[in-house]
Amino acid sequence: LVLVVDFGAQYAQLIARRVREAKVYSEIVPHSMPVEEMLAKNPKAIILSGGPSSVYADGAPAIDNTLFTAGTPVFGMCYGFQLMAQGLGGTVDNNGAREYGRTPVTVGVSGILLQDIPPAHNVWMSHGDSVSEAPEGFTVLASTEGTPVAAFENVGSQMAGVQWHPEVLHSEHGQKVLEHFLLDIAGARPTWTIGNIAEEQIERVREQIGDHRAICALSGGVDSAVAAAIVAKAIGDRLTCVYVDHGLMRKNESVAIEKAFRESTGAELKIVDAEKEFLDALAGVTDPEEKRKIIGREFIRCFERAEVEILGDSDEKVAFLVQGTLYPDVVESGGGSGTSNIKSHHNVGGLPEDLEFELVEPLRELFKDEVRAVGSQLGLPDEIVQRQPFPGPGLGIRIIGEVTKERLDILREADAIAREEMTRAGLDRDIWQMPVVLLADVRSVGVQGDGRTYGHPVVLRPVTSEDAMTADWARLPYEVMERISTRITNEVSEINRVTVDITSKPPGTIEWE
Ligand code: XMP
Repeated sequence: LVLVVDFGAQYAQLIARRVREAKVYSEIVPHSMPVEEMLAKNPKAIILSGGPSSVYADGAPAIDNTLFTAGTPVFGMCYGFQLMAQGLGGTVDNNGAREYGRTPVTVGVSGILLQDIPPAHNVWMSHGDSVSEAPEGFTVLASTEGTPVAAFENVGSQMAGVQWHPEVLHSEHGQKVLEHFLLDIAGARPTWTIGNIAEEQIERVREQIGDHRAICALSGGVDSAVAAAIVAKAIGDRLTCVYVDHGLMRKNESVAIEKAFRESTGAELKIVDAEKEFLDALAGVTDPEEKRKIIGREFIRCFERAEVEILGDSDEKVAFLVQGTLYPDVVESGGGSGTSNIKSHHNVGGLPEDLEFELVEPLRELFKDEVRAVGSQLGLPDEIVQRQPFPGPGLGIRIIGEVTKERLDILREADAIAREEMTRAGLDRDIWQMPVVLLADVRSVGVQGDGRTYGHPVVLRPVTSEDAMTADWARLPYEVMERISTRITNEVSEINRVTVDITSKPPGTIEWE
């Protein structure tokens, strides 16, 4: 057992998952758990996660220094690295150098931790403070331009740490660093296997729902389809799937989803047309969080109406609402312990307070690629399992400004062209997703056919990612960008400019709102 101590990291589950990938069993514990209690679990090693605070901030989450003298191997990442440095007598300060996103690191001494890792490689950083002096007895292994001490180890005391986030995909050799710590420094044995997540979840859901009825909120995406498949296996026809057409979907999408779902699962599907309700509720609203909350609330109102129809005259109740919430949705909505709210995902932070359903969320601890694996295991077709992500709030969070039917129609046309060209270029599998964002309140001057235009820009946001926790902007071939740009400006008269977003996550998020 390896414990991951969560200091409010965006990435705590990701760390746990990387440890699972190293075939070592791991559990997450909150930083508020007393050190004795952690040690009583007899962990083979303890990993201190990153977190949003400065170690010097008032009320910054801390850890009792007895952890460092208990003889248990410890590994720190980012904030955890700084806590270690501070707790062991090193120095942490704010030298003004902030590093976010891809950062080149130079390995001076490879030690055990950075063995067989190239001396110059790129890692993912997200920090303000830095360690300026390593604790006594520790060897400094690496540095970056802004951080003199970016990694250290003390093999004798089985402790090590890095300033970067080795757990994210965009940190090169990150898994190797973690495995060097777990296997070579801490001496853990790689014997754990993932077992059958699907079977475990079916059993859990069966216990939770008992002999009640449930509604599944189907969005057409991978997550809700896999959640539905798990619950259908657990409770059979006591499950009704409900698809809400909120008018914020992409062109022709609702029809395609209905067809794919009916053909692949055979589960009962109820369609609710709620375009008018959603657009009325969104009228005049421009704030992203407000939009998300309105959309989250309207979804629930639709499920409540669906419940009434499903039950007819019976005096039963549908007590459970199944959602395909994933771990990244939870953590970005501030649902981890002490994590910041980055945005309220419609099915987590966007839920109304008077929610009467009990939630069933079999995928809440998993990442997208794990969900895809579970979906395939359950026999769902590739058409559903390999679908690119699309957010529940749909185009509502891709129109910057007020959401209106007219603006939605403009964006739908531009988005359809972009998707068509991406598919034609064979890029659907390489690209994680490519939101097309309409800057509805921005106008710029253009010239078309000898005449002046004064239209809106759209932004293409192509990204690569493994789990949406971090992402990089995708280097689309110029020819593809050119075709998309030419076609959109020719075919959608309200749009006279196409731009490309070249920001990684962090610091950007994938969606603009
Ligand atoms: P961000 O913008 O947070 O997006 O980097 C990460 C991933 O989540 C999707 N997303 C959502 N999905 N409800 C969803 O079902 C939401 O409210 C929501 N917001 C963002 C986004 O498309 C990306 O795949």
